[in-house]
Amino acid sequence: MILETFKNFSDFELLDTGDGFRLERWGDVILARPDPQIIWPQSLPKEIWRSAWATFNSASGEERGKWDFVKPLPRPWIISFQDCRFVLKLSPFKHTGLFAEQAANWEWMASKLAKSKVESYKVTSGPSNDKIQNSKFKILNLFAYTGGATMVLAKAGCQVTHVDASKPAITWANENYALNKLPKDSVRWILDDAVKFVNREVKRGVKYDGIIMDPPAFGHSPDGKTWKFNNDLPKLLESCVKLLSDNAKFLLINGYATNSSALALNNLLESSMETLGGKIEFGELCLKQKSGRMISTGIFTRWSK
Ligand SMILES: C[S@@+](CC[C@H](N)C(=O)[O-])C[C@H]1O[C@@H](n2cnc3c(N)ncnc32)[C@H](O)[C@@H]1O
Repeated sequence: MILETFKNFSDFELLDTGDGFRLERWGDVILARPDPQIIWPQSLPKEIWRSAWATFNSASGEERGKWDFVKPLPRPWIISFQDCRFVLKLSPFKHTGLFAEQAANWEWMASKLAKSKVESYKVTSGPSNDKIQNSKFKILNLFAYTGGATMVLAKAGCQVTHVDASKPAITWANENYALNKLPKDSVRWILDDAVKFVNREVKRGVKYDGIIMDPPAFGHSPDGKTWKFNNDLPKLLESCVKLLSDNAKFLLINGYATNSSALALNNLLESSMETLGGKIEFGELCLKQKSGRMISTGIFTRWSK
């Protein structure tokens, strides 16, 4: 069981946590956002908390709320993760369009890609990089939202199939894509139900070298079909395993606000990947605040070879 955090994301910092709130820095912008798990007191003095440019407030138990501003936000508001850039916007559900903790997953995927590039370089053993560049990794990103992982993978030279059921999410991901000046054919955009799309890909015999997914606890397909994490994930994973190529390097499942556990996800993945060998890890995806204290934001399990 791992408590996973990113190593290098200088545009994001968890400054403090306490009394039901996180104090975060996104670029220059400081935000105070509620997080119900934070049941301990704040560590930093009140005047630091008062330096927040905006604070999200909602009636107790309500997901929708409003931002109270002390200072206007930059427009556009852009932050960087290594060589990727992202447009942020505040939503009435306390979100910014990026889940900063995902940077730990992005770093993990990048390490797997770097390792296989080194291996394929050894196999081709010539001085030319042509073979490495031509053999692009094909990645399937399900429930892909505003495309955080899509941008990181496309920047790393992968061909990414980005699937999400929400038109506004795909539009936002396209803004990030334009900002990152990525090659035209590096992302295939699919506005569809993840389950339906995966089943169609299985029928078509399509293969991917990596699959990542961040299914919500509860969601809807464009035609109104409900998605429930515990009910629908096992079947989706069964289909995803059929999509893995012989050269597949990773499969990652992330979960937010589910009533599952990292251990349960691990058990599911272990059963699904039994015949494929490789390594499975699982744990909590965390953010580490300046003082070293960690908070858990979600759970993950991941397979790599
Ligand atoms: C938790 S967010 C993913 C966050 C993303 N991994 C990131 O790091 O930026 C979940 C996404 O799943 C999408 N979604 C919900 N139900 C879906 C479905 N049935 N098929 C495809 N996408 C769906 C939502 O539109 C949303 O963008």
